[in-house]
Amino acid sequence: MTESIKYQLDESRIPTTWYNLVADLPVPPPPVLHPGTLQPIGPDDLAPLFPMSLIAQEVSTEREIEIPGPVRDVYRQWRVTPLYRARRLEQALQTPARIYYKYEGVSPAGSHKPNTAVAQAFYNREAGVRRLTTETGAGQWGSSLAFAGAVFGLEVEVFMVRVSYNQKPYRRALMETYGARCIASPSAQTSYGRSVLAQTPDSNGSLGIAISEAVEVAASREDTKYALGSVLNHVLLHQTVIGKEAMAQLDEADDYPDVIVGCTGGGSNFAGIVFPFLGAQLRGGRQVRIVAVEPAACPSLTRGRYAYDFGDTGRMTPLARMHTLGSSFMPAGFHAGGLRYHGMAPLVSHIKELGLIEARAYHQTQCFEAGVQFARSEGIVPAPEANHAVKGAIDEAIRCREEGASRAILFNLCGHGHFDMQAYADYFAGRLTDQDYDERELSMALAGLPSVEAVTRK
Ligand SMILES: Cc1ncc(COP(=O)(O)O)c(C=O)c1O
Repeated sequence: MTESIKYQLDESRIPTTWYNLVADLPVPPPPVLHPGTLQPIGPDDLAPLFPMSLIAQEVSTEREIEIPGPVRDVYRQWRVTPLYRARRLEQALQTPARIYYKYEGVSPAGSHKPNTAVAQAFYNREAGVRRLTTETGAGQWGSSLAFAGAVFGLEVEVFMVRVSYNQKPYRRALMETYGARCIASPSAQTSYGRSVLAQTPDSNGSLGIAISEAVEVAASREDTKYALGSVLNHVLLHQTVIGKEAMAQLDEADDYPDVIVGCTGGGSNFAGIVFPFLGAQLRGGRQVRIVAVEPAACPSLTRGRYAYDFGDTGRMTPLARMHTLGSSFMPAGFHAGGLRYHGMAPLVSHIKELGLIEARAYHQTQCFEAGVQFARSEGIVPAPEANHAVKGAIDEAIRCREEGASRAILFNLCGHGHFDMQAYADYFAGRLTDQDYDERELSMALAGLPSVEAVTRK
């Protein structure tokens, strides 16, 4: 093994295809249902919101899907992203583990989100769409779509969860720099936003509410479609460039992961790093332990129910079978805004049900503690969301120390925290609290799950 710190590949090594896990699953994922008929939805049901090329990817069972040339050309701006060996962190932890991280913070927006934003903007542009609406929690996704809109000449309108809008004014400025419009959600601009404000004038907002607002606008205008930053199959698909590159880079390092760790909000960066390795395992390759890490204040994978639910709070989307806290669940305003979503990607939920992955939940102060330790060893300041993966990886490395085992740990450092320094300042000032979700609110939200018994009993 070499003593390298960074494993870098030339632009020519950017993957030419995305990897579709559905092709290798032992059991196909459950269908997405029309909320009215409770029958599996068809392409026409989704056509008001998405171009046909993305709908085709959503339901594809093909293993490899070609990345269009213009998308790869934009990827070249920052891909291939570096794979690091965290040698100084290993030393600080006194662990025999080999810790690797894939760093997605080198993208223009500072995270993995442009991997799908660029693809979605491209396909919409090809279909003649002029405007895109979307939601954003942390602001990473809104910035990414704003950037992609600028590249492909699309107008972009972003509904930003109000608590993040207030916490992160510079994210809003970044979206505006790329030419997008950013609106605090809930807003008075949509009938759903007005109904939330009428009931809760000081609402913090949530991703579920912001999705409803963006979907409402897209569904009501001919020239406008909707783009989602996570959860859907095609979004997870676009993120698989991360894992594919990591595989080639680990090859250069002459290593292979024993454990892979990723944080999960809607599941896209986790899927991006994990699916290519999981696919190889399912095709008879090496076994990998896979760990999803989520916030204890919004624990869909560890405390949610595996059930059919809406993707948004306003109940406008189709029904997907996923781990959910209930679409009316309102998470506390903790600092990892990108992880404040009531549900989990149906594909990630499905592989959790199949026992192919583990999940654990952490409180935010322990994640910031891990993030600060990481920054002091490696120099990179992680996004608050990414701190969950850092904490998961550090715990795995400590376990290696305790067991005297030298395992290879790979995690996804999915974004930097340069726009999140207020959160770090709050952490240092002792102002961060560990908010638990409210058990009563969770029971109420779960009691409100749509009834899809006839279908789920099959
Ligand atoms: C840096 C970062 N990481 C993770 C997430 C969570 O999304 P996902 O689970 O889809 O990767 C977000 C979402 O906004 C994010 O900005």
